[in-house]
Amino acid sequence: MKAIKVGLLGLGTVGCGVVRIIEDHQDKLMHVVGCPVEVKKVLVKDLDKKRAVNIDRELLTLDPYEVINDKDIDVLIEVMGGIDETKIYLLDAIQEKKHIVTANKDLIAAHGTELLTAATEKKCDLFYEASVAGGIPILRSLVDGLASDRINKMMGIVNGTTNYILTKMSKNGSSYEEILKEAQELGFAESDPESDVEGLDAARKMAILARLGFSMNVDLEDVSVKGITQVSDDDISYSKQLGYTMKLIGIADRSSGKAEVSVQPALLPDSHPLAAVNNEYNAVYVYGEAVGETMFYGPGAGSLPTATAVVSDLVGVLKNMRLGVNGRSAVAPQYDKQLKQPHE
Ligand code: NAP
Ligand code: HSE
Repeated sequence: MKAIKVGLLGLGTVGCGVVRIIEDHQDKLMHVVGCPVEVKKVLVKDLDKKRAVNIDRELLTLDPYEVINDKDIDVLIEVMGGIDETKIYLLDAIQEKKHIVTANKDLIAAHGTELLTAATEKKCDLFYEASVAGGIPILRSLVDGLASDRINKMMGIVNGTTNYILTKMSKNGSSYEEILKEAQELGFAESDPESDVEGLDAARKMAILARLGFSMNVDLEDVSVKGITQVSDDDISYSKQLGYTMKLIGIADRSSGKAEVSVQPALLPDSHPLAAVNNEYNAVYVYGEAVGETMFYGPGAGSLPTATAVVSDLVGVLKNMRLGVNGRSAVAPQYDKQLKQPHE
C-alpha cells in the first residue's frame, strides 16, 4: 500500500514530537486514514544537532526547497516558527499544491488571511489547530462542535509559559528569571520568550480564537495587550493573602456589537476554575448563546501535546484527500475574511 509522504519544516520541540507520534501511532494512523504515513524530508538549520528523536540523517536538509518542491510530498508540516521567510515558504508550497499543517500562531495571526486565500484558490488545506492552546482541540471545537451556535465571548489562559511562571512564583519563591529559564528548557517558551512574557503570544492566539469564534477578521492590532513583566513577587504574595490568584487572561467579547479582544494579568478569586489551571496548562471558556458555558482544559505547550494537535490536523488533511474535498471552506477552519464586525 502506497504511503502518504509528508515533509517537515523544523525538527525542534514540536517537530520531534510530530516524528515520534507518526512513528509510535502508525497503527492508529493506518486505521483512521487507511494508509501508512511516512516522513520524507525535514528542513533543519543544523545537520549535526543532537535531536530528541532518532532520525535518518539522510532525511535532513538545509535547503527548504528540497522539501517544498519534492513531488512525492503531499503535506508540508511547518514547525519551524518565524514569519516573513516562513510565509514565503508556505505560499511557494501552496503553489506546488502541498497541503499545509502549521503550529505557527505568529504567522497565522499576521498573515492567516493571505495564506488561507492562497490555499483555497489552489484547493489546498491549511490547518493550524496547534497554533492555539497546544493539545486542546479548541479551534476544531469552535468551527465544528459549536458550529450551530452564536459565540458571544471567550475567556481563558492561552499561554503556557506565563502560566508556568505565575504558578511557580506563587508556589516556591524561585525568581522570575530562573522560572523562565526552566520554561525554556522544558520547551514551552517561544524562541524569543519576550513574546510570551509581554503577552504577544497570547494576543495572537486570542486574535485567532476571535476570528473563528466570531466568524470575522480580527487583526493583531485590534488586540489590547499587557504581559506579566510588571507583575512582582509582592503582587503575587499580597493577592494570595487576600484569596486571589494572578493569571494572564485573554478575553474576546462581542457583546458591544464589535469584537473587543484583550490580554492582561488579572486577579481571580481562588475559587474561580481558572485559578486552578496551573503550570503550562491552558483553559478556555466559550460562552455560546444556545449551549451556555463550556470550558476546554489541557496542556497548552510542550512537545507531545502540541504534536498531537499537529498530527490530528494531518489526519484531517488526509481524510479530506480521500474524499477529494481539500481546500473547501466547509471542511477547513475558515472565517469571513472581509467581515470586520461580528455576525448578528
Ligand atoms: P524549536 O524547538 O525552536 O524548533 C524550531 C526548528 O525549526 C528547529 O529544528 C530549527 O532547526 C528549525 N528552524 C528554525 N528556523 C529555521 C530556518 N531558518 N531554516 C531551517 N530550519 C529552521 O521551536 P518549537 O518549540 O518546536 O516551535 C515550533 C513552532 O511551533 C513555532 O511556530 C511555535 O510558536 C509553535 N508552537 C510551539 C509550541 C511549544 O510548546 N514549543 C506549542 C505550540 C506551537 P535546528 O534544530 O537545526 O536549529
Ligand atoms: N510559547 C507558547 C506557550 C507555546 O507558552 O504557550 C504554545 O503555544
